[in-house]
Amino acid sequence: MKKLMTALCFAAVSSSALAGGNVDAGKALADKYSCFACHGKDFNTPIDPSYPKLAGQHKDYLEHALTAYKRGDGANGRNNAIMTGQVKPLSNQDIKDLAAYLHSLPGTLAVHR
Ligand code: HEC
Repeated sequence: MKKLMTALCFAAVSSSALAGGNVDAGKALADKYSCFACHGKDFNTPIDPSYPKLAGQHKDYLEHALTAYKRGDGANGRNNAIMTGQVKPLSNQDIKDLAAYLHSLPGTLAVHR
């Protein structure tokens, strides 16, 4: 019974991971759109101290932030001269994949103690 529960648990986790974005697809998109050009090649060392570190940030937060740049001036949007242009070509699935990839990277931020 315990084994079955473990298997069911694992199945639930892996399918939700899929629905939440694909790490490999996210890496391909990050390369394609050169996100590292500003956020740093390991996403821990941005080229300017005012640019955010993305590695290891929570996936749902990253997804939320990217979606907010897409909304722009709309309700719950973020208007930023740089990022507004960056998110233009991204689909909702692209955003999920990028968030999954960036979240998977080892970060230096303390997100949980
Ligand atoms: C030309 C430089 C540049 C490029 C290229 C760039 N970004 Fe950004 N990014 C920024 C800056 C600057 C900010 C902070 C904007 C602000 O203050 O809202 C930011 C913010 C973000 C945030 C919000 C982080 C937070 O902590 O709220 C995310 C997520 C993000 N970028 C992801 C990406 C992704 C994914 C790509 C590639 C598709 C990308 N960026 C490409 C400069 C860049």
